[in-house]
Amino acid sequence: MIYSANDNRYQTMEYRRCGNSGLKLPAMSLGLWHNFGGESSFENARKIVLGSFDLGITHFDLANNYGPPAGSAEETFGRILNRDLKPYRDEIIVATKAGYGMWEGPYGDGGSKKYLVSSLDQSLKRMNLEYVDIFYHHRPDTETPLEETMEALALLIQQGKALYIGLSNYSKEQIKEASAILKTLGVRCLIHQHNYSMLNQQNAALKPVLKEEGIGSIAFCPLAQGLLTNKYIHGIPKDSRAAGNSIFLGPEAITEEVLKKIVKLNEIAENRNQNLAQMALAWALQTGELTSVILGASKLAQIQDNIGALNRLILSEEELQTIDTILLS
Ligand SMILES: NC(=O)c1ccc[n+]([C@@H]2O[C@H](COP(=O)([O-])OP(=O)(O)OC[C@H]3O[C@@H](n4cnc5c(N)ncnc54)[C@H](OP(=O)(O)O)[C@@H]3O)[C@@H](O)[C@H]2O)c1
Repeated sequence: MIYSANDNRYQTMEYRRCGNSGLKLPAMSLGLWHNFGGESSFENARKIVLGSFDLGITHFDLANNYGPPAGSAEETFGRILNRDLKPYRDEIIVATKAGYGMWEGPYGDGGSKKYLVSSLDQSLKRMNLEYVDIFYHHRPDTETPLEETMEALALLIQQGKALYIGLSNYSKEQIKEASAILKTLGVRCLIHQHNYSMLNQQNAALKPVLKEEGIGSIAFCPLAQGLLTNKYIHGIPKDSRAAGNSIFLGPEAITEEVLKKIVKLNEIAENRNQNLAQMALAWALQTGELTSVILGASKLAQIQDNIGALNRLILSEEELQTIDTILLS
């Protein structure tokens, strides 16, 4: 069937300026880490991507190694882009990354110029694109001089293969240093991507430096991979990430202690006429001072559900304090 985007797609989504840049991102983006690789259903992946775009999600977050197998999420996304979204390319922000191990030998991992330049070339081929909108260094590499990694990112901008630069999983000191180097190269860092949710608040410490540097802030795993929903309250559903073969979330993560907190958080969400996922997303956007949260999904219905958070994004001081008390208990 020929896809035609929903005419009302820009009516409910909120778009937020990314740091001090000219670019706005949707408050909710779609990530293609799980469920979009070659081992997953293409039709389901297509349904999620197109359904998300219909809801105003204009930003899609990928990486060279997303799959499995590595590279296949970019291939899936490229197929959808070329088949359905070609007329909408200028309405879409495509982000990809390199930094984790991708191919054999000394040049398929880390932060060298050799790796980053080759990897983005491969990503562009897989997605059949001339450029990506955001290219990230996926994680810091202390064995490579930061100058070399930043020179590689700046080069890719100069070559027109990426429009903006992003960094992911950097510490506040590394962000400051990288940002200073980029400025000497005439380029700015657009955005930093990090783990942030009610169950993982370590990166709250990045807020001041990102503000000071005018860098946008985007959170991954805002639902702690699904823990911050009501799905695990009565056991582990067969079709959930924790029941599958993800090496990143197993049944052992669903401890009594976590469940107790989830049940209490769920009650607060219900008192606000939201479900836990919606409240957790609103909480992350507000307390993390984020430009956007990156949603993961195994079904389009989850995105449709999560977008409902936009109806009630602000938590009161009292609600925030009650949530803190539960999380610290
Ligand atoms: N930069 C980095 O190092 C890095 C690292 C990790 C992720 N990321 C990015 O962040 C994105 C999001 O990560 P994530 O997938 O872990 O995000 P998440 O939002 O924390 O978890 C998403 C998962 O939660 C479950 N879920 C979502 N909404 C739900 C709902 N309403 N009800 C019930 N279950 C629901 C689904 O899993 P099931 O249905 O399968 O249970 C879904 O796949 C990734 O795709 C990737 O783009 C980046």
